Amino acid sequence: MSKEYLWWRDGVIYQIYPRSFADSNDDGIGDLHGLIGKLDYLAELGVDGIWLSPINPSPDKDFGYDVANYKDIDPKYGTLADYDLLIAEAHKRNIHVIMDLVLNHSSDQHPWFVESRKSKDNPYRDWYIWQDPKNGKVPNNWQSIFGGKAWEFDEKTGQYFYHMFVKEQPDLNWRNAAVRKELLSVFNFWADRGTDGFRLDVFNEYFKDAQFRDNPTKIGRRAFDAQEHLYDTNQPEMMGVVHDIRAILDSYPERYAVGETFMTTMEKAAYYSGEGKLHATFDFSFLWNKWDPGSFLKSIQKWESAISADSWPNYVLNNHDNKRSATRFKAPEDDERLKVAAGMQLTLRGTPFLYAGEEIGMRDIKVKRSEIQDPVGKHYWPINVGRDGCRSPMQWSKDINAGFSKGKPWLKVHPNYITRNVEVQAEDPKSLFNFYRKLLKLRRETPALHRGSFMSLNFDPKRVLGYLRQDGDQTVLVALNFGKRKVRLALGNSLRRRQWELLLSNKRVTSPSVANGWLALEGDEVCILRQK
Ligand code: NOJ
Ligand code: CA
Repeated sequence: MSKEYLWWRDGVIYQIYPRSFADSNDDGIGDLHGLIGKLDYLAELGVDGIWLSPINPSPDKDFGYDVANYKDIDPKYGTLADYDLLIAEAHKRNIHVIMDLVLNHSSDQHPWFVESRKSKDNPYRDWYIWQDPKNGKVPNNWQSIFGGKAWEFDEKTGQYFYHMFVKEQPDLNWRNAAVRKELLSVFNFWADRGTDGFRLDVFNEYFKDAQFRDNPTKIGRRAFDAQEHLYDTNQPEMMGVVHDIRAILDSYPERYAVGETFMTTMEKAAYYSGEGKLHATFDFSFLWNKWDPGSFLKSIQKWESAISADSWPNYVLNNHDNKRSATRFKAPEDDERLKVAAGMQLTLRGTPFLYAGEEIGMRDIKVKRSEIQDPVGKHYWPINVGRDGCRSPMQWSKDINAGFSKGKPWLKVHPNYITRNVEVQAEDPKSLFNFYRKLLKLRRETPALHRGSFMSLNFDPKRVLGYLRQDGDQTVLVALNFGKRKVRLALGNSLRRRQWELLLSNKRVTSPSVANGWLALEGDEVCILRQK
């Protein structure tokens, strides 16, 4: 791996849900001009790249994840010219732009599907996955993860089509060479416009078993969980497409692809990244961990050992599909626990992916049934309220609607915006926002924190997590106290006699004393030291 600073490897990526970020024309929906207006903010925060959830034309059955045209921008977000402007303005500030490509399925309003469902002999019929009924019923036992069967019957043509997500998201047929060619050309289309990277939505679902075999069953809560997804996911044909994608990206200077693997193991996710494959794939275990250093360490060690030497890990505490970390970890309002979470995520060996609002500790909104927008919440209420909670508008200021829009926002704003917003936190030197800024700056300036090796100082931590990051002659020690009480971290024989200087802490301004090989930490402390 190269030693030069590489934005996607050494830097930090910030995910934006464009609908909820900044609204420039007060129609209640965020847009590209709104986002362009916030690029200075992102530069000040210190991120190297932004990943935008889909902005292609979409009927929004799954809010952009149902695409009706892969080579255009949805008018509610702007135009292709606005996108070009976004790229230019982002690049001026050294911010790279990652687009979300949803190529497993399209919208049922995509002209290809409109054609496909017209008749069995339509030239686009085979662009989607159509099957005859089996004994008058569905072709096999496959389920939709968003609820119900994965097969939808089409009265007109007497066949079923397959959809892993809602029925308005029919899966594309990647086995068809014309489909494959057309979908791969989408990468060129956006890379030619200067797009720096791509996040691939559920790419390990592109292929399904050619024989449509039933998935084996197992015990599970929902019908979907009561199956082993042997035949509707991770088919061997996928690797060929992964190679094709990488070859396209390698024909441009410094492009990047990160894949969202879905319903799979860490080992399998790791398998898709590396030389000639994707640059990275996500591991989501941090999203499921309790606030406990032992579970985080296990995830880190597992991910570190799963990934090959030519691949690169990443860490995700938040995204648009999951409860926000502040809500999950029941973070007290003083935000000290969130500083510990940030201290961990931004000092690990791997690319941190932040999600808009994480830097100010946004919490999930509570939606009533009548307010639900997300198809998942609509289907599973009240067992699963869906994903609206983490998608509420960004809290910029105490102005109306948190400064997001003067019009009625598509999803309500969290009532805490009066006190929890960017403007207030920017002015408070002790705020979470300013702590993120310091961490991002420190990370950028400290090579050991990007490419340095990772070595845990704990075996089975109960209260404190400690680790070293080392690159050349630079050694950084990170100590994180997960609890409110003071605690000591044992440095052991090899470290106790070294001299340490303080790089950053949320609890002290001078270097801590290391007495007899013990580093004493305050409650909720992030302590980052460098060996002198
Ligand atoms: C994963 C995306 O993150 C999620 O938001 C979406 O609903 C599904 N893929 C379907 O595209
Ligand atoms: Ca708007």
